[in-house]
Amino acid sequence: MAGVGYALSPVTQPATSPASLPRFQPSSSSSSSFSVSASFSAVRVHSFKATTCAFVAQQPFGSHFYGRRNSLGAVLPSSIVLDNGLIESRKSSRVLKCSPARAVQGELAPLRVMISGAPASGKGTQCEMIVEQFNLTHIATGDLLRAEVAAGTEAGMLAQEYMQKGQLVPNEIVVAMVKNKLDIAPNGWLLDGYPRSLSQAEALEAFDIHPQIFILLEVPEEILVQRVVGRRLDPVTGKIYHLMYSPPETPEIAARLTQRDDDTEAKVKLRLKTHSSNVQSVLDTYKDVIKVVDGNRPKDQVFADIQNLIVELQGKTEVDGRTLGRCGQSTAIV
Ligand code: AP5
Repeated sequence: MAGVGYALSPVTQPATSPASLPRFQPSSSSSSSFSVSASFSAVRVHSFKATTCAFVAQQPFGSHFYGRRNSLGAVLPSSIVLDNGLIESRKSSRVLKCSPARAVQGELAPLRVMISGAPASGKGTQCEMIVEQFNLTHIATGDLLRAEVAAGTEAGMLAQEYMQKGQLVPNEIVVAMVKNKLDIAPNGWLLDGYPRSLSQAEALEAFDIHPQIFILLEVPEEILVQRVVGRRLDPVTGKIYHLMYSPPETPEIAARLTQRDDDTEAKVKLRLKTHSSNVQSVLDTYKDVIKVVDGNRPKDQVFADIQNLIVELQGKTEVDGRTLGRCGQSTAIV
């Protein structure tokens, strides 16, 4: 059976619209519990979906690095958790404004963001930009599963059977995987592609894990198919490309691009079917925090809306008796 990973042969080559949900207006100011028995590989996940995906690597002296890999796979630390529990940010001043250090020190609450949408609606693309801007820990179940498949673990071998058919991987595998990652995300998290069913949402609720915002990307089905068949990934940087909408910058990059095995027209139709039969129950669970964003626009425009939503959320966050303004400008409550 072919693996659910990345074929090395480049190929050439085009849903779900939830009813009655509030659409984000850019101009506005705007239980089940699971017994988990699966074991997982200890491989470091280099997210193929997002180079900018923050990940955690154990370091000596009890510290953790939160950073990214460079093209050679070396850690590019953006911040470090010190033994005293504080986080020292090493990112630019722009990111420092919203850095996890301030969150840990009680100035900013860690953000809890979910992003959802049909296959190829742009979740991974937007997550790259969200992580870059807000320094959240990106947890993408599709990427985590592909890493398990690539590592040949027991969980990965089981997951592969379902991924090939465009079906959901059993909760026994996915729930534990997500929970483990959430437990090591003190700077806030960005959950991408989870939960995808009522039972997965209930599992999070049972762990008392709730998002502050649930971003739903809306894209018409015919566009989704175009996006899937044209998607390519750079195995060196992890960057997502599209042959037509987001082509590689150089011939050298173009030559090394790979395609996911499940990125065929036939398989995406199965994935869309799975998505549409599960999505409504997830939306019902998070109806109080859903923001619908039109994902059928250039990616920078989509991101501008998402950025506004998250900044607005930060502005409303209360921590330690203070109300925080944009990106950590705090105002005392009297
Ligand atoms: P997963 O990898 O999560 O696949 P997916 O949900 O189908 O989403 P995609 O990764 O295909 O798309 P995306 O929304 O990230 O779009 P992207 O940004 O890449 O899951 C794979 C499988 O794993 C599932 O089928 C399932 O079997 C299993 N699985 C995963 N999570 C699970 C869970 N919780 N429970 C059980 N099983 C689970 O963009 C797509 C393309 O469009 C790219 O080429 C990009 O360049 C282009 N593009 C993006 N934005 C734009 C734009 N604005 N304009 C033009 N082009 C754009």
